[in-house]
Amino acid sequence: MASSEQPRIQWLGRWGFVLAATGSAVGLGNIWKFPYITGEYGGGAFVLVYLACIFAVGVPVMMSEIAFGRRGRGSPIDAIRRVVNESGRSSAWSLLGWMAMLCGFLILSFYVVVAGWSFSYLWKMLTGGLAGTSVDDMAAVFGANNANPLNLGFWSTLVTLITMVIVGKGVQEGIEKSVGWMMPGLVIMLLLLIVFGMFSGGFGDAVRFLFSFNAGSLSSEGMLAALGHAFFTLSLASGAILTYGSYLPKGASIGRTSISVAIADTAVALMAGLAIFPVIFANGMNPGEGPGLIFMSLPLAFQAMPLGTLFGILFFVMLSMAALTSSISMVEATVSWLCDNKGFSRRSAAWSTGIVLWLISTAAMLSFNVGADWTLAGKTFFDWLDYITSRWMMPLGGLGTVVLAGFVLKNETFRDELGLAPLPYALWLAMVRYVSPLGILVIFADALGIYTV
Ligand code: PFF
Ligand code: NA
Repeated sequence: MASSEQPRIQWLGRWGFVLAATGSAVGLGNIWKFPYITGEYGGGAFVLVYLACIFAVGVPVMMSEIAFGRRGRGSPIDAIRRVVNESGRSSAWSLLGWMAMLCGFLILSFYVVVAGWSFSYLWKMLTGGLAGTSVDDMAAVFGANNANPLNLGFWSTLVTLITMVIVGKGVQEGIEKSVGWMMPGLVIMLLLLIVFGMFSGGFGDAVRFLFSFNAGSLSSEGMLAALGHAFFTLSLASGAILTYGSYLPKGASIGRTSISVAIADTAVALMAGLAIFPVIFANGMNPGEGPGLIFMSLPLAFQAMPLGTLFGILFFVMLSMAALTSSISMVEATVSWLCDNKGFSRRSAAWSTGIVLWLISTAAMLSFNVGADWTLAGKTFFDWLDYITSRWMMPLGGLGTVVLAGFVLKNETFRDELGLAPLPYALWLAMVRYVSPLGILVIFADALGIYTV
């Protein structure tokens, strides 16, 4: 059944998949993006819609993706084709796999730029380049860091290189080994940082901001953002989770694993909010600052606190590692597809992917300096990459996935693959058939202004 003669490689350790999938999920989305979009869309109401999207849409989609991967034992394109063929359905559904692969790739093209910010701030922390006493000082540092394309390009190139070195080493030797020490390290650092955050003042304001659901009504634009972010933060519809699932051994429980990954990811996002917003409110900053939010607010706060430099270093090490365990997952679909279908070795697949990625990410990086004026409808190239993937490709890919899993495949296929008891299976089926697709469609229709509320 598989295209190659050898059986597909599998995760070596018992925790291999969970660590890798959690590593993919927990990333810049939790620590950089969640706080700033929550700030932009006004707090509590946004958070509530986001949580609903995670559990009503994200978890069922994640289960379906892992089941596709494990059943089809291949990249998204190959795995989806094999699974639909097994049900006697058209190979055209593998277009969904193409879209996912492209989506993961486009996300990575802007993701390495943000990860580059993290690496460069770590360097500044280590070398004392973050001295400043006001919000304006910090905004100036952020601006200066972006203004020089050689500087910014150096850092995003470094992230690309590290990502490709890890992926080039293979699933067990590269990915599994690196997440095996980065994930535990990340958890320890995060716990230390939260203790630190509790003593920073402004904690009450932060809790109120994140959890007061009557903070005014949420725009339909905000709801679409919440849906898109639920996909982004769980690494869905971009090939990552499906491909990692293709290395999952038969016995592992897909349902339990998906719920654990979703809970861990949500916990990290909320904890990041609880660590970052106190600082913002305590310093009278604007929570709607946008993408530069954590890079301007946190360094300032760290400086004013005892042991701040140490914790600042810890923060940016943690952020950089979180970014890497995610970036490696975004190219795995492409690399695995090249190896399975085009006869590439792991290493040459990783480097070829890396070169194309470098070209696109360089264009994205230029959005912050020489290309700041290359805008279309007010958005830079960087903004477009983010917008197209989060608002359109991921929700549409997720919709396709649940329709496929819920209506197109034979029922037996995923009943076998998920291995659920009758009641949980019925629940999953109801989610993929009705709750998730309706949720996605309603939010889409709303955002498109098809009806007025
Ligand atoms: N889930 C990652 C984050 O929250 O930072 C981002 C991501 C990783 C998106 C992998 C898509 C993907 F395939
Ligand atoms: Na995430």
